[in-house]
Amino acid sequence: MKKKKIVVAVTGASGSVYAKVLLDKLADLSDQLEAVGVVMSDNAKTVWKHELGAGYDDNYPFASYHKHDFMAPFASGSAKYDTMIICPCSMGTLGRIAAGTSDDLVCRAADVILKERRKLILVVRDTPFSLIHLNNMKTVTEAGGIICPANPSFYSKPVTLEDVAATVVDRVLDLAGLDLPSYRWGES
Ligand SMILES: Cc1cc2nc3c(=O)[nH]c(=O)nc-3n(C[C@H](O)[C@H](O)[C@H](O)COP(=O)(O)O)c2cc1C
Repeated sequence: MKKKKIVVAVTGASGSVYAKVLLDKLADLSDQLEAVGVVMSDNAKTVWKHELGAGYDDNYPFASYHKHDFMAPFASGSAKYDTMIICPCSMGTLGRIAAGTSDDLVCRAADVILKERRKLILVVRDTPFSLIHLNNMKTVTEAGGIICPANPSFYSKPVTLEDVAATVVDRVLDLAGLDLPSYRWGES
């Protein structure tokens, strides 16, 4: 299998544990990855500290980019990143992507992935949704993006918070085309 180049954006929606589990699992799957670039919004860092008790730990074996660093490789389609995962994805970021603002690296990278017809996965998180949120999800879906909401499942009987988060993250990694061990319905 060709190794993948993936962008992970973390934004300021609740659910930093989803991002942490995603990054932990990507670190474990490094043999399938050529490059992983990480970009965090300002509020992602605030929410991470609030929800997980410690600041974002930049010790992952990935390249980190400032949210205004338009020199990052994935700010251009020519760098040929395969997939972008925004996890969790706030309604603000969703709206900016739907409007095509490209005003920071998260939105520019998403714009690039869509224009290049590659894979954009948005782990949206809020509740309830307004018609504005739903219309923005429709717009991004029509443009080729995948809305994969932070809706955990419970049929695998998850025990820890990380197990619950993994019920979403494993689906995201499946969508990204990575091979991973996971609970599979119908398999014992
Ligand atoms: C603790 C906390 C939790 C939040 N949870 C959500 C959420 O679940 N969904 C959401 O859309 N915004 C949420 N917000 C608000 C966003 O962080 C805010 O709208 C921000 O401007 C989003 O910008 P960003 O997408 O660039 O991070 C939360 C903010 C805080 C401080």
